[in-house]
Amino acid sequence: MPNAPILAPSLLAGDHAHLAISARLAAESGAPWLHLDIMDGHFVPNLTFGPETLAALRRAGIKTFFDTHLMLAEPHKYVEAFAKAGANLISIHIEPTCDHRATLARIRELGCQCGLVLNPDTPASAIEPLLGLVDLVLVMTVQPGFGGQAFRADMLPKLREIDGWRRDRGLKFRLEVDGGIDLTTAAQCRAAGTDTFVAGTAFFKAPDRAAFAKAITALP
Ligand code: DX5
Ligand code: ZN
Repeated sequence: MPNAPILAPSLLAGDHAHLAISARLAAESGAPWLHLDIMDGHFVPNLTFGPETLAALRRAGIKTFFDTHLMLAEPHKYVEAFAKAGANLISIHIEPTCDHRATLARIRELGCQCGLVLNPDTPASAIEPLLGLVDLVLVMTVQPGFGGQAFRADMLPKLREIDGWRRDRGLKFRLEVDGGIDLTTAAQCRAAGTDTFVAGTAFFKAPDRAAFAKAITALP
């Protein structure tokens, strides 16, 4: 049985002066997850928020599952801070030099689910030996750093490849896409095995966000 589709609205496209309001709006639209993009200005050429923002959202009463996407040159140094701040799942990129196995194990030890992320130029083979260790694989469908970019359809074969390994090995991890996801591109990714959909711009700009969330959940 494939995993049921889940929407994870990206807070990056929310109102940065009122993040709790945007987070609440996402939850009230029926999205079970909230995607948090953490950027350090080194691994990606942009800056966003840190653990204190997650903690503040929790204090403001946001109870959504926090899907935390670390775009950091030294992710291993920060997993503890994000776990303590209220992350439920912490994903690290495969590209930076760090002990990925140890960092994934540490995330689990801290009581969170763990994930691995691949940039568009990174082949699926880079994470293949680690697939048994993760709860989620995130395939970037844009170069990370900014919202509002165009979806890269050339990532679809990578999704199919990872989904194939998942089936062959009887693994249960979620397969997530991030970047340029709207209802059209989400359907293409679903057909390639994706079950978890990050959407920033398309979600927050949707005229009816609840209908958007429902449409993702209803993807066959
Ligand atoms: C990009 C981030 C994404 C971003 C997606 O680096 O990882 O999560 O918020 O934004 P959209 O959906 O606008 O492409
Ligand atoms: Zn992201």
